[in-house]
Amino acid sequence: MNPEENTADLVARFDFAATLARIAEEVRDLVGQGKVAAYIPRLAEVPADRFGMAVATLDGRVFEVGDAATPFSIQSISKVFTLTLALEALGGDLWKRVGREPSGSAFNSLVQLERESGIPRNPLINAGAHVVADVILSSTPTAQADLLEFVRARADNRAIVMDEEVAASERDAGFRNAALANFIRSFRNLDNPVERVLDFYFHQCALQMSCLDLARAFLYLANRGRCQRSGQSVISAERAKRINALMLTCGTYDAAGEFAFRVGLPAKSGVGGGIVAVVPNALTLAVWSPGLDEKGNSLAGAAALDRFTALTGLSIF
Ligand code: DON
Repeated sequence: MNPEENTADLVARFDFAATLARIAEEVRDLVGQGKVAAYIPRLAEVPADRFGMAVATLDGRVFEVGDAATPFSIQSISKVFTLTLALEALGGDLWKRVGREPSGSAFNSLVQLERESGIPRNPLINAGAHVVADVILSSTPTAQADLLEFVRARADNRAIVMDEEVAASERDAGFRNAALANFIRSFRNLDNPVERVLDFYFHQCALQMSCLDLARAFLYLANRGRCQRSGQSVISAERAKRINALMLTCGTYDAAGEFAFRVGLPAKSGVGGGIVAVVPNALTLAVWSPGLDEKGNSLAGAAALDRFTALTGLSIF
């Protein structure tokens, strides 16, 4: 990368197709390593040897490699979509009910909640996502349909669905989420019945999307809150900035510091093996490989994003 060149010129002339092909080759030995999430039984059935990656640019181009068109369970990546909807519903009052600091603990940790009186550290850990789900449920009688509609519109794909089997599988094994939600409710930080909050939460996690869908769907966060295709506002530029900041500091849980150090981009991971990252004012990228590291982030996926920012020079730093 020529340091004199501005980001738009760089993006316009960069050969992303060749870069993605090179990255797929470079991370090949990592694909299949790590552990596929087994605590949600349905996810344990996904073959570990998959790898896909997609890039969507603000000037309307899309690039892909490998299994980029295969839908997978987006899991915690959905927390970015629900945060967007909850901010629209409640505005800044959301921050009375959920914090904005990295947790430094596992995404499903209970201990912090006790010490902090039922106010989750941030909206991107499970406890925070339960509060966010509760806010959405209080704002509309059709929360699940509204979320699905939002995601389909953002990804420009009407075929996106929530996988009922994944949602049921997680509900049947969801003792820890049930503990978290009951605990938050005991502090009066949930207004809706715990069962409703959990049902919505398990369904948001069960959204099935491909890397291509996710790269397209996150473009509003690279585009100061505007839809890349229509130019219409999805959220304000200020909220887009804040969501990106939260992804950088909290999007990969207790690995967020290491992830910022390695990759240097706002990103959100899920235990389905997906990671989405945003290069503000330039592009989005999504990667999928189901093998996870010990923090629950895709092993090959994180390596691929690391290589992407190293090869292109596109990072926020
Ligand atoms: O609640 C859970 O445990 C899962 N539905 C989502 C967790 C997740 O994706 C965390 N990601 N790294």
